[in-house]
Amino acid sequence: MDSVLTIRNLFFAGVSFVIFYAFRSVLDNRRFKKFARENGCEDPPLFKDKLPWGIDTIYKLITFKGDLLDDWVCKQYYELGATWKGNVLFGDQVINTSDPQNIQTILGVKFKDFEIGEKRHRPIRYLIGNGIFTSDGPTWSHARAIMRPQFMREHISNLEATERHMQNLLKAIPADPTSGWCDEIDLQPLFFRLTMDNATEFLFGTSVDSQLTAMAPATTGDAQTVQTRATLMAAGKSGENYSFGEAFTTAQDYISWSFRFQQFYWLIHLFSTKYRRACQFCHRFADYFIEENFRQHKEKKPEKSNSGETYEKYVLLEALAEETQNRKELREHLLQILLAGRDTTASLLSWTFLLLSRHPHVWARLRKEIIRDFGAGSSADKELLTFHRLKSCTYLQHVLYEALRLYPVIPANHRRATADTVLPVGGGADGTKPVAVRKGQVVAYSVYAMHRRTDIWGDDAAEFRPERWQGRKLDWSFLPFNGGPRICLGQQFALTLASYVVVRILQRFDKIEPVDSSTPIEKFLSLTISPANGVKVRLGLAGRSQ
Ligand code: HEM
Ligand SMILES: *[C@@H]1O[C@H](CO)[C@@H](O)[C@H](O)[C@H]1NC(C)=O
Ligand SMILES: *[C@@H]1O[C@H](CO)[C@@H](O)[C@H](O)[C@H]1NC(C)=O
Ligand SMILES: *[C@@H]1O[C@H](CO)[C@@H](O)[C@H](O)[C@H]1NC(C)=O
Repeated sequence: MDSVLTIRNLFFAGVSFVIFYAFRSVLDNRRFKKFARENGCEDPPLFKDKLPWGIDTIYKLITFKGDLLDDWVCKQYYELGATWKGNVLFGDQVINTSDPQNIQTILGVKFKDFEIGEKRHRPIRYLIGNGIFTSDGPTWSHARAIMRPQFMREHISNLEATERHMQNLLKAIPADPTSGWCDEIDLQPLFFRLTMDNATEFLFGTSVDSQLTAMAPATTGDAQTVQTRATLMAAGKSGENYSFGEAFTTAQDYISWSFRFQQFYWLIHLFSTKYRRACQFCHRFADYFIEENFRQHKEKKPEKSNSGETYEKYVLLEALAEETQNRKELREHLLQILLAGRDTTASLLSWTFLLLSRHPHVWARLRKEIIRDFGAGSSADKELLTFHRLKSCTYLQHVLYEALRLYPVIPANHRRATADTVLPVGGGADGTKPVAVRKGQVVAYSVYAMHRRTDIWGDDAAEFRPERWQGRKLDWSFLPFNGGPRICLGQQFALTLASYVVVRILQRFDKIEPVDSSTPIEKFLSLTISPANGVKVRLGLAGRSQ
C-alpha cells in the first residue's frame, strides 16, 4: 500500500507550493503597481549595486573605515538626491529619505501606516528586551502612558536636585588656585556620570551617585560606606573591571554593528562573548538596583515645587512595580529608559562643549548673555536660575539647537509600512512625484543628512553658527527629538538639564581651550553619536585666569 509520503507526492506538493507563491507574488505585484499608478506615484532613483541583493554594498559597509555619516550616508544622498531606494538581502528594497515632507508623513500625517517593526527589535532584544522603544500598538501606548506623568512640567522644573548633581560635577574639575586654570580634563565622562546620576534619581527614586563614587578613593564596599552593590557597579568599583556605563556602551556598540549585518545580526550574539558579557553585566546591575530600591522602600512624600505648591513625587519605578512584579520586565523597562535618558543628554552636552571650545566668539557671547540673565553664580543669584528663565535665554537655546543640528544624537532611524501607502515626494526624474510604499517595506530616514542639506540650511550648513536660529521657525527640517505621536518624551527634560549645566559651567569658568584643535572632529557611532576622542579642554576660573 502506498504511503501518502512518497517521493512523488512530496515533489508535487513542493511544486504546487512554489507555483502558489509565484502566482501570489505576481498578483501582489500587479495590485501594488495599480495602487502606485492610481496615486500618481513614480519610482525614486535606485542605488546600483554590483552584486545581487546588494551583497557588495553590505560587504563595503562592514569593512568601511571612513566617517560613516559624512563619507557614506551624506555622500549617497548627495549623489542620489533626498529620496532614493536601495537593495537589501531578502525582502523589498529599502526607501531612504532625508526629505522633511516625507519624514513628516511617516512620523505624523500617516503615523498609522508605519510601525517600528522587527528590524529594530530583534538585534536589541537581548540587551533591553521589550518596552517603549521596541514596541508598537497597544504595548507601546501602554508603556508611554506609564511614562508620561514622569515628564510633566512640575516634575522637570524642580532644579534643586539638579544643583546637587551639578555640585558633584564641579568638584570633579579642580582648578589650581594660583594660576586659576584647571588641568587638562575630559568633560565627556563627567557628563555621562551626571546624566546617569540625575536619571537614576529622577526615574527610580535613588541616585547611583557615580560621580562621587568615581572620585572617592577605591573602596570595595566595606561596611563604613553607604555604597551598595549597584552604586559600585555604576562607578566601576565593584571589583570587576567594568562600570555599568562601559558595559552599556560596549553592548550598544556591538548592537549598532549588528545592524550592518542586517538579517545576520545574530552572528554577533553567537560569536562575541564580549557582547554577551557586557549585556549580562547590565542585567545584573539593573537587578541589584531594583532590589536595593525595593529594600529601601521609600515612602512617597509630598515635594515642594519652585512656586511653593506641593505635589506628589512620581517615581517611575514605583508606577512600574504596580503594573508588574516580574523582575525581568522591570529590568527591561529600566534599561530602556536609561538608554533613552543617559547617553542622549550626555552626548548633547559633550557636543556642545566640544563646539564651544573651538568657537571662542560663541563662548564669549553666550557667557555674556548668561551672566546678564543668571548672574555670576553667587548664592544670591540662585533665585534667577529657574525653568522659565532657562527657556527664555534665547541664545542659550540657539547654541543647543545648533549643536543638535550638526550632531543629532540619534542620527538615523527607520519605520516599516503596515499598509500600502504613499510618500508625497521623491519620485520621478525631478523627485517631485509621490512615491508608493508597499506593506512591509522599510523606509529609512536620515536626520543627520537632512540637518546638513545646503538647500535647506544654506552654503554654510556644515558650520557651527547659532546666529542662524535668530527668527527661524521650528519645522520638520529640524528633527533631533523626532515628531508626531512618538516624539521624544524627554525633550523638555533634556533641554532643561543641558541648559542648566551650560549655565553653571559658564558662570564658573570664563575661558575654555581645546587641548588639541588641529585634529578633525571624529564621531563615535553607536545607537547615538558622541565625540570619539572625548571633550578634552582646559578651563579657566572666572576672573582668576590669565
Ligand atoms: C538630547 C537629548 C535627547 C534626544 C536628542 C532624544 C531623541 C529622541 C528621539 C529621536 C526619539 C525617537 C525614537 C524613535 O521613535 O524612533 C526619542 C524617543 C524617546 N525619548 Fe528621547 N531624546 C533625548 C533625551 C531623552 C531623555 C533625557 C529621556 C528620558 C529620561 C528620553 C526619553 C525618550 C523616550 C521614553 C522615547 C520613546 C518615545 C516613544 O517611542 O513613544 N529622551 N528620543
Ligand atoms: C538606507 O537604508 C538602509 C536600510 O535601513 C540602511 O542600511 C542604509 O544605511 C541606508 N543608507 C543610507 C545612506 O542612509
Ligand atoms: C534631573 O534633571 C531635571 C532637569 O534639569 C530636573 O528637573 C530633575 O529634578 C533632576 N532630577 C534629579 C533627581 O536630579
Ligand atoms: C575585562 O577583562 C576581560 C578579561 O578578563 C577583558 O576581556 C575585557 O576586555 C576587560 N574589560 C575592560 C573594560 O577592561
